[in-house]
Amino acid sequence: MKSTYEDVERVLISEDEISNRVSEMAHEIDEYYADSGKKLLLLGILKGSVVFMAELMKHIRIPVEIDFMKVSSYGGGTVSSKNLTILLDLKRNNLPQTDVLIVEDIIDSGRTLSYLVDYIKLKGAASVRTCTLLDKPSRREVDFEPDLCGFTIPDEFVIGYGLDYDEKYRALPYVGVLKPELYEK
Ligand code: PRP
Repeated sequence: MKSTYEDVERVLISEDEISNRVSEMAHEIDEYYADSGKKLLLLGILKGSVVFMAELMKHIRIPVEIDFMKVSSYGGGTVSSKNLTILLDLKRNNLPQTDVLIVEDIIDSGRTLSYLVDYIKLKGAASVRTCTLLDKPSRREVDFEPDLCGFTIPDEFVIGYGLDYDEKYRALPYVGVLKPELYEK
């Protein structure tokens, strides 16, 4: 069977670069929340965030809990018409005593995180902040900035480290650029 590595045009961010940056981000999280006095919840957004989430939590030294939500977008396929539906909700009864850090793999239009920040605030969390491995600011359609960002990237078709194309390539250990002939019709 063909290796998924053969479908990668080039490596955009290597395993070592990701590992070093994720470790730095975990350190920033440790420092920011050290004296909060609240529980810290890492809230991963399925599915893309799972690899980043797993790596990030291993480097955090303060007590941390994890949970997940899943949202799905519908509405004709274009990002600008994106309507978000919650497929897996966050159910906790201690949100007023909890700092929530939403963990994403990538921000594109900004609609997913913009919506989720408001949603978790409405649920009554003590605080809500966001952390993303990748950010594509050139694709933004709503005004949104993450609190923590691993790498700002150009508008290229990236896969790996949790990110997919047609549900493939999430297991690649780096962030790569997909060969254009694989998605151009
Ligand atoms: C991707 C990504 C973010 C969202 C970002 O998820 O993981 O959740 O899109 O896009 P936005 O900034 O335009 O809202 P996707 O819907 O592809 O699901 P997945 O994580 O299961 O791959």
